[in-house]
Amino acid sequence: MPHVHATVTQAAAYKSANLYIHDDMTSKMAIIGLQLQQRLPVLAGVSHSGLTSATAVNSISSLKKWNNGGRLPRRLVLGLGASFWAQHMNMAGNCKSFIASARQKGAVEQVLQNVEWPEQFPFKDEDFQRFDESPDSLFYEAPRFVTHIDDPAIAALTKYYSEVFPPSNTPGVSILDMCSSWVSHFPKGYKQERVVGMGMNEEELKRNPVLTEYVVQDLNLNPKLPFEDNSFDVITNVVSVDYLTKPLDVFKEMRRILKPGGLAIMSFSNRCFWTKAISVWTSTGDSDHAVIVGSYFHYAGGFEPPQAVDISPNPGRSDPMYIVYSRKLSSA
Ligand SMILES: C[S@@+](CC[C@H](N)C(=O)[O-])C[C@H]1O[C@@H](n2cnc3c(N)ncnc32)[C@H](O)[C@@H]1O
Repeated sequence: MPHVHATVTQAAAYKSANLYIHDDMTSKMAIIGLQLQQRLPVLAGVSHSGLTSATAVNSISSLKKWNNGGRLPRRLVLGLGASFWAQHMNMAGNCKSFIASARQKGAVEQVLQNVEWPEQFPFKDEDFQRFDESPDSLFYEAPRFVTHIDDPAIAALTKYYSEVFPPSNTPGVSILDMCSSWVSHFPKGYKQERVVGMGMNEEELKRNPVLTEYVVQDLNLNPKLPFEDNSFDVITNVVSVDYLTKPLDVFKEMRRILKPGGLAIMSFSNRCFWTKAISVWTSTGDSDHAVIVGSYFHYAGGFEPPQAVDISPNPGRSDPMYIVYSRKLSSA
């Protein structure tokens, strides 16, 4: 069973933590934005405008007005850098808004095509803050034997893996499943000599049948991956890249431990543990998320240009599912 979504009322009481919120909720949350304003720490990258994150939440309603021919687009309000987002808007295929673009088949796939990245990583420290800055070990202390996306989305991911993974039982192949749990969504019966899971909860990792070994490590405290250089063929990360507060450090480490030509597959949907996801994620939409993850590959360096794939099985009916992937350059 997918993890039960939080209701709006629960969202207002999100401090009780275990919340898994659909992105559509964020527009509903604009309604309770004023309540949140009193409670949120300074979050999203808003230094251009000087707005607080709660104001950014409220800006979702501004965005709706803008869609109707009104106010400024939310990207500018968030202060992520006008040129960056202006370019993103061009790439998104002249869609009227990012929310609209995320609903159009193919829009997420387009955002990483022919990107001219700004010279500097466009995000700021505040973009990687979370509402709940308590230790992640507390949040993940108790095991959650649940799935975080619905069955069709899981099936789409498993099918994608079956198309891009090395054949099962290929001698010498090693796979790392980052931010892993009791499930990795690999094809049924899939095996390799070495499949390592990294995650936060030992009980979950112990129960994961595909893993040959596991490591419990908080990547936000220690982004150094405890593995040799050039040792993995594939790295996966399912619906969890949004919890990384030091993503560039982690992606540089991914590059280091991947074999030349090795594949990194970051998948995500539109749900998250809202209090634990980084603010730039919770304040943006699906297309933005592809750009954000793409930027991690780009600015970590040593990767081929990242690509986005929309594998959503049944748009509008079941959870969307997106992949942003890249391969380590053979020269890196
Ligand atoms: C939404 S669950 C997804 C689990 C699994 N990938 C799946 O598809 O079911 C988020 C996962 O991210 C991992 N995670 C969250 N914060 C982390 C951190 N600071 N360091 C390492 N892993 C983290 C946890 O282990 C948790 O299992």
